[in-house]
Amino acid sequence: MVRHDFLVVPRGGELKSGFGRWVEDTSRSIGPIILLGPPGAGKGTQAKRIAERYGIPQISTGDLLRENVQRGTELGAQAKEIMARGELVPDELMYDMVAQRLRQVDCEPGFILDGFPRTPAQAGWLDAFLENEFFENSDRDRCVPIVIRIGVDYNELLRRLTGRRTCLASGHIYNVYFQPPRVADTCDVDGSKLVIRNDDSEEVIGERLKAYELQTQPVVDYYERKGRLVSVNGDLPADQVAEQIFRVIESHGAVEVKDASHGG
Ligand code: AP5
Ligand code: MG
Repeated sequence: MVRHDFLVVPRGGELKSGFGRWVEDTSRSIGPIILLGPPGAGKGTQAKRIAERYGIPQISTGDLLRENVQRGTELGAQAKEIMARGELVPDELMYDMVAQRLRQVDCEPGFILDGFPRTPAQAGWLDAFLENEFFENSDRDRCVPIVIRIGVDYNELLRRLTGRRTCLASGHIYNVYFQPPRVADTCDVDGSKLVIRNDDSEEVIGERLKAYELQTQPVVDYYERKGRLVSVNGDLPADQVAEQIFRVIESHGAVEVKDASHGG
C-alpha cells in the first residue's frame, strides 16, 4: 500500500510533520467522518484507508455487533438473529454500544463511523451526542461531521457482496472478483483463513438492500437537507474512490496536506 509523506497544518495551528499518519497533538482537528452507502458500497474498505492515512479509528457498528455475537454477550444474543435475517438491530440497542466506543480516548482527534447512523432516529441521537459530549471542549467548526455517501450501481453491489471474503483475525477485506488474495482463502497480511459473512447469501443480501432503501436512505436525505452531504462515485476502483474521499476530507478545511519531501 502506498504511504504518503505529508505535513499537517491544523487550522490556525502550528505546522507539524507526519509520516503517513495524523500527528498526535492536532487534537480534534479532523472531527467525525460519517460514511454512508448501501451494503457492499465499500464503507469498510474505505474506512480502513482513511484510518491508515489520518490515524483515526474506524468504528464499524457491524463489526462491533459481530464481536458481541462472537463473545456471546447479551447484546450479541439480541442482535444475532436480526442480523442473520438482514434486518436492522433496534435503535435502542445501538446507543450504549456506540456511546461507549466514542468516549474512548482514541476518538478525540476524530473517528470514522462506518454503518452508523442508519436510521433518522440514530442520526438525531448522534447529533445530540456530538453536541453534548464531543463539542464541549472543541472548536465547533472542526467537529461538524464530514458526511460522505459512497454511491454504487445495484448490480455491482451484488457482485461485491457475493464475492467478498473477510479475514477472521483482523477484518481485512478481499473480493474473489475484484481484490483476490494472493493465496485462495488466505489473508495476505496475516495468513488467517478468509470467511464468507453469513449475511452475504443472496436471500439476506436482498433484505439488507431493502432495509437500506427504507430505513437508511432517509438518513442520506437528512444530511442533504442540512447541506452536509458529499457524494463520491463508488463504482470506480477502490484506489480512485479513496482519492476522491481524501480530497473531500482535505478540502473540508480542517487540514492542509502537503508533500513533506522538501522538509518537515
Ligand atoms: P454492516 O457490517 O455495516 O454491513 P453493511 O452496511 O451491509 O455493509 P457491508 O459491510 O456489507 O459493506 P461495506 O460497505 O462495508 O463494503 P466492503 O468495504 O466490505 O452491518 C451488518 C448488519 O449489522 C446490518 O445488516 C444490521 O443488522 C447490523 N447493523 C450494523 N450497524 C447498524 C446500525 N447502525 N443500526 C442497526 N443495525 C446495524 O466491500 C464489499 C466488497 O466489495 C468487498 O469484497 C470489497 O473487497 C469490495 N470492494 C470495495 N470497494 C470496491 C471497489 N471500489 N471496487 C471493487 N470492489 C470493491
Ligand atoms: Mg462493512
